Amino acid sequence: MVILGVDVGGSGIKGAPVDTEKGVMLSERFRIPTPGGAEPQAVALVVGEIARNFAWNGPIGVGFPAVIQHGVAKTAANVHKSWIGTHAEDLLAGATGCPVRVLNDADVAGMAEMRFGAGRGRQGVVFIITIGTGLGTALFTNGVLVPNTELGHIEMDGQDAEWQASDAARQRGKMKWTAWAKRFNRYLQRLDALFWPDLFILGGGASKKIDKFRSELDVHAEIVPAKLANEAGIVGAAIAAEALANEH
Ligand code: BGC
Repeated sequence: MVILGVDVGGSGIKGAPVDTEKGVMLSERFRIPTPGGAEPQAVALVVGEIARNFAWNGPIGVGFPAVIQHGVAKTAANVHKSWIGTHAEDLLAGATGCPVRVLNDADVAGMAEMRFGAGRGRQGVVFIITIGTGLGTALFTNGVLVPNTELGHIEMDGQDAEWQASDAARQRGKMKWTAWAKRFNRYLQRLDALFWPDLFILGGGASKKIDKFRSELDVHAEIVPAKLANEAGIVGAAIAAEALANEH
């Protein structure tokens, strides 16, 4: 099945058609910078532009950086607050003229890693953590997703963990990888102690640099980098819309 996968991120909105059986993008991803403020209408216009770029006329899956329940955004940590309560699926269906499924971005990246990447065939409790503008989490138990875990927002030293340990925090603080990794390690240790996962898969932009900080990480669970790296969000979004394709 070929589905257009779209990943809405804090700095860029990216899309490409995906072969969902193979878990591969069928062309170069098309990227447009996220409009300043990331308001619903502006983001919808960009998603419409991505669909038009591929002359798309079919199902679209979108990974979005917020809690998404039944197509509606419920939070907005790094996008405009007016997303809260917005029916993201209806809005983006209107902007593209296509059926759209929207799910949390970390959840869909996790789905891609579990099916095609570092989590393939892994049983037990697996966490995917996306390290980017935010800290995204996806929790799987024996391959089944517990959706909308927002564990990037646990409290650490009286602050939101994401504010301290995301890649945006590293850049904001102009921190060396090792200095940042000490903080990120404390974050991982919290999740490790609370959930006792078997495996952490680290994804998002920062995971490409894992060789610079791997030695600072010390938890019980095994740690591996994501395999699909940049593509997990797009591939996962497409996978998430498979059911939608069957309905049409
Ligand atoms: C949001 C999550 C999202 C993560 C990664 C967080 O700020 O609350 O919903 O998955 O960023 O984008």
